[in-house]
Amino acid sequence: MSSPMRGAVICILAASLALAARSDEAEPALPGILPGAAFERVVGEAAKAIEQDLTIAEKDPQARRRAHGTAFLVAAYAQASIRQGNMKGDGEEGRVRAALRDAALKLAEAIGENKYAEAVDLARTLPKAKPDAATNTAELPLLKPDDQDGLLEDLMGLLKKRALGGLGVKPKPADPKHDGIEARLDLLADRTLPKADIAKQADGLALAAYQTAALADLVYATGPEKKRGALDPKDWRRWSRALRQASLDLADAAQMKDPERVRKAAEQAASTCKDCHKVSR
Ligand code: HEC
Repeated sequence: MSSPMRGAVICILAASLALAARSDEAEPALPGILPGAAFERVVGEAAKAIEQDLTIAEKDPQARRRAHGTAFLVAAYAQASIRQGNMKGDGEEGRVRAALRDAALKLAEAIGENKYAEAVDLARTLPKAKPDAATNTAELPLLKPDDQDGLLEDLMGLLKKRALGGLGVKPKPADPKHDGIEARLDLLADRTLPKADIAKQADGLALAAYQTAALADLVYATGPEKKRGALDPKDWRRWSRALRQASLDLADAAQMKDPERVRKAAEQAASTCKDCHKVSR
């Protein structure tokens, strides 16, 4: 092959490789997590729960971990809402959400540094975070590289039973064995519940599902940069996105009080956890 020809072939090859890499990464627009009507209530409750955990965090590592993880969840709700609502740019609503995201990250940082007095103040004012001149609605990485050590464990810990430091699922079930997102997903995946049972737990299930979807956005960002043994970063991102989607399906199915859809979405979510754990844990 003549050398200009070889150059052209190499160029075309390189261009198609770059394209392949990009289309592999290209994602359809992600839906938001919290519907507008639930946004303020869920964020308000998260801030209260953080405040409460902070009163005991110094002595109780599980409460500290729950508060830390919950602050990141709020940042993820806010960022997903900016992204979905086309709120990028200068609109006031987007700026308010961006201010909330930034305040939640500041709170997470204070908890991470064990600055509890500061953290309590930040938790108290969190729902009312106001934008200022520095507020920017552009998408931010929610996790800094030096946050990531140990953070994944804190985040995953949110899914454990309440008695082990997890978020739990409301209303509190009679059996504490079922008071955790992981345990509840397995239970829901296992059999189709009567519609009346789903109706009774619809709001609590939807909340647990929103929490799991937000967590999936954070998990997405903690993936390995390079292949590590059998663990491929592409799979990591795929499982994180699948968990996000299954969680949003679950939230919707719970609110529609559709027992079979609840079962399917829970099964989908639970199988994503297991797929990732098989190669990553
Ligand atoms: C994309 C990968 C991935 C997905 C998806 C995932 N996990 Fe994990 N999970 C991990 C890794 C990695 C660890 C080990 C973290 C560590 O100890 O640093 C872990 C650890 C855990 C732990 C133990 C935490 C602790 O305190 O030691 C629990 C519980 C858990 N995951 C539950 C879940 C549940 C429930 C789901 C699905 C709803 C899920 N995970 C989805 C990767 C994942």
